[in-house]
Amino acid sequence: MRASSISALACFASFAAAQTFQRLGGCPDLGCIFPPDQVDFLAGQYFDIRLEVHSPVNGSEARVGEPDENFTFTVAKKGKEAVTAPEYFKIDEPELERWNFTWFEDRFAEDAEKPSLVNVTSKVYRRIALYEPGEYEATLTYYGEQKTVANWFVRDLPSKRRAKNVVMFIGDGMTTNMITAARLIAHRSINGKYLTTMAMDKFPVLGHQMTHSMDSFITDSANSATALYTGHKTTVNALGVYVDSSEDTFDDPKFETIAEIYRRKNPNAGVGIVSTAFLADATPAGLGAHTSDRGDYDHVISAYYESLTDYEWTNWNGPDVLLGAGAENFVQSEETRDYYKLFAEKGYNVAWNNTALSNAPSDERLLGVFSTNNLPTWLDRNVYQSNLYNQSNYPDGSDRDADDLPGLKEMTLKAVDVLDKRHRKDGWFLMSEAASIDKQMHTLDYDRSLGDLLELDDTVRATIEKLEELGELEDTLIIVTADHGHGFDVTGSVDTEYMEAQTDDRSKRNAVGYYENSGLSQYTVAGSNALRYSEGVHFPAQWDPRYTLHSGVGGFPDHREDYRVNSEGPRTPAVEDEKKGYVANYKDAVTGFLVNGNMPLDQGQGVHSLTDVPVFARGPCQELFGGVYNSIDIFFHMAECLGLSETKRAGQPPHAGKRD
Ligand SMILES: *[C@@H]1O[C@H](CO)[C@@H](O)[C@H](O)[C@H]1NC(C)=O
Ligand SMILES: *[C@@H]1O[C@H](CO)[C@@H](O)[C@H](O)[C@H]1NC(C)=O
Ligand SMILES: *[C@@H]1O[C@H](CO)[C@@H](O)[C@H](O)[C@H]1NC(C)=O
Ligand SMILES: *[C@@H]1O[C@H](CO)[C@@H](O)[C@H](O)[C@H]1NC(C)=O
Ligand SMILES: *[C@@H]1O[C@H](CO)[C@@H](O)[C@H](O)[C@H]1NC(C)=O
Ligand SMILES: *[C@@H]1O[C@H](CO)[C@@H](O)[C@H](O)[C@H]1NC(C)=O
Ligand SMILES: [Zn+2]
Repeated sequence: MRASSISALACFASFAAAQTFQRLGGCPDLGCIFPPDQVDFLAGQYFDIRLEVHSPVNGSEARVGEPDENFTFTVAKKGKEAVTAPEYFKIDEPELERWNFTWFEDRFAEDAEKPSLVNVTSKVYRRIALYEPGEYEATLTYYGEQKTVANWFVRDLPSKRRAKNVVMFIGDGMTTNMITAARLIAHRSINGKYLTTMAMDKFPVLGHQMTHSMDSFITDSANSATALYTGHKTTVNALGVYVDSSEDTFDDPKFETIAEIYRRKNPNAGVGIVSTAFLADATPAGLGAHTSDRGDYDHVISAYYESLTDYEWTNWNGPDVLLGAGAENFVQSEETRDYYKLFAEKGYNVAWNNTALSNAPSDERLLGVFSTNNLPTWLDRNVYQSNLYNQSNYPDGSDRDADDLPGLKEMTLKAVDVLDKRHRKDGWFLMSEAASIDKQMHTLDYDRSLGDLLELDDTVRATIEKLEELGELEDTLIIVTADHGHGFDVTGSVDTEYMEAQTDDRSKRNAVGYYENSGLSQYTVAGSNALRYSEGVHFPAQWDPRYTLHSGVGGFPDHREDYRVNSEGPRTPAVEDEKKGYVANYKDAVTGFLVNGNMPLDQGQGVHSLTDVPVFARGPCQELFGGVYNSIDIFFHMAECLGLSETKRAGQPPHAGKRD
C-alpha cells in the first residue's frame, strides 16, 4: 500500500498487515475504484467502472457513521482538466447502491468466528471506453477530503493489422521444468546431446511472463486466463470482471475479452475454443464469460451460446467451433437447459465422439463434447486404455463409456479446418488448452501430466504442418504459453525395484539416485508398453521402466510416493478424514514411502506456484514476445497484431451507460 494512505489514516497500520485475507482485493483504501490503480487499457476496449465507499462497522478499521452517499468521481486525461464521469463519458449518473459484507481479517478472526462487517455505498458506470492513448487520473473523493486515485494508462499501439490468424496454445500449469522432464522421457539423447527436440524448442522466440494476479502473488486459472485474454489482472475465481464487494456474482465491473473485441471489430472473423477440460472450466470460459465466480458454470455455457446479449454487452455471438468435455453442463437437468438442442437449433453440428468429430462438415458451426468431466488423459486414451471403461462418461448423459475419444490434436486440427473453411478471408482466433497438465499435476500424477504436455507438443507440431498445407502458416501468429506453474521438478532417478524390496520408509529413500547416480532416461528404451509412433511424433517408448524420475512439487498434502506410473488410472494422493482433514491415501503408491505434507489440512492436492512461465512465439509479430514481461502483455501483443487498437473514434460505445 502507499505511504500516503498510511499517514492519512492511522488505523490502516494494522490493516496493512492483512494478507491472508483482504477486505477487498485491489482496494487498500476505504474508497475503491475498479479498474484500480496501475491498470492498462487497449484503446477502445469496453469496460465498466465500479466505485465503492466502505464504512467498516467493527474490526481494526472501525469508523463511526454511514458510508458516504455523496462521494464524487472525476476522470482527467493527463494535463487536462478533471471532469465528472458522466461528463467525461457522456452518460447519465447511475443510481446509488447500498449493501454490506463481512470478511475475516486473519486466521485468528476466522478461528474465533468473528468477521468484520463493512457497510458500502456504490455506483457503477457501464460499457464505456477510452480511445485516446496516454495517462489518465481517476479520482474518488469521499468523507470530505479523502481521496483514492487510480492511474490508468491507455497504450498507444499501432492499429495496422499484421496477422490474419492467431493460435494461442495454453498448457495449463505448464512450466519450463515440466517441458525439460517431458523432453527427457520422450526424446533420445546420446552423451548429453538430444537427437530430436520438442516442437516448442524449435520456436524462434522465447519470452517469460509473470503470472501474479491483481491481489495475490499466486494465481488461479480464472484470473490468469482473464489477464491473458483481456489485459486486466483480477482476483482468484473471477472471469472478465473486477471483483466488487457485493454478493451478486454478475454485477461486477466487466471488461471486454479479445474474442469479443475481435468479433465486434470484425464481424466476419472466426473464433474457436478447444480444451481437454470440461468446457465450463476457467481457461476456455475466460474468452466469453463475465462473472466473479468461475463456478457459475451455466453462465459460462450460456455465454458461449448466446453471448452476453442479456447484459447489453458485446455480441460476439459465440465461437464457430467449441470442442472439449464436461457434458454435465450441456445435458438437460434441473440447473441446465438442453444446450445440445439449443446449439443445434442455432446451426451447430453436435459431435459426441471422435468418429462424429472427423465426419462433421467443416463449413458449419461445430460443438463437440466428448465425455463428462474432463477428457481422459493421453496416457489413459493411448497406453492404459482399460481405464476408459466402467466410467459411465458418454456425453449424451447415458451410462455408456466414452471410448471413441479424440485428443487435443484431433480437436485442434478439426478446429483449424472449420475456422479455415468458414473464415479464410477474414481470419480467425483459436485457443487450444491442454488442461490436464495442470489437473494431473494437482493430484501429483506426474506421468499423466507429462503425457498431456507431450500431447500438446505433438499438437503444436501437427498444427504447424496443417497450417503450412493450408498455405496459412505465414499469416498465423502461434503462441504456446501457460497460465501459471506448479512447483514441479526432477532431482534424480529412482530404482523402483530396490525401493520395493526395502521394508521401512528410511531405507526406501536409498533407492533415489542423485547426481551421477541419476543415470540416463530409461523411458526412451522400448519395453513392455512400447508405443508405436510415426516419424515426428514423440512419446516415451515405455512408461514403467525400472529406473523412473524422482519427481516432486513444492506444496503438497500428506501422501505416499513410489515414483511409478499409475497404470490403473489417475492418482488420488490424499483422502479426507473427518477429524484430521486430508491424510495420505494408503491405497496409493503402496511400494513407496510416506511424505509429510506441508499444506493446510483442508487441501488434498498440490497447488499452483510462483514461477514465471514460458511463452513461445512464431509468425507475424513474433518479435513482440521476446524477453520478460507481464501476463497482460500477451493480450496487448495479440491485440496489436490483430490491429484491434481503436484510437481515433469520437464519442462512446452505443448503449454506453446502460445497466447490465
Ligand atoms: C449499516 O447499514 C445498515 C443498512 O444496510 C444500517 O441499518 C446500519 O445502521 C449501518 N450501520 C452502520 C454502523 O453504519
Ligand atoms: C448528501 O447530499 C444530500 C443532497 O445534497 C444531502 O441532503 C445529504 O445530507 C448529504 N449526505 C451527507 C451524509 O452529507
Ligand atoms: C446488511 O444488509 C442487509 C440488506 O442488504 C440487511 O438486511 C442487513 O440488516 C444488513 N446487516 C447489517 C448488520 O447491517
Ligand atoms: C462485527 O459485527 C457483526 C454483526 O454485528 C458481528 O457478527 C461480528 O462478530 C462483529 N465482528 C467483530 C470483529 O467484532
Ligand atoms: C458416435 O456418434 C454417432 C452420432 O451420435 C453415433 O451414431 C455413433 O454410434 C457413435 N459412435 C460411437 C462409437 O459411440
Ligand atoms: C467393468 O466392471 C465390471 C463389473 O464391475 C467388471 O466385470 C469388468 O471387468 C469391468 N470392465 C473393465 C474393462 O474394467
Ligand atoms: Zn490448477
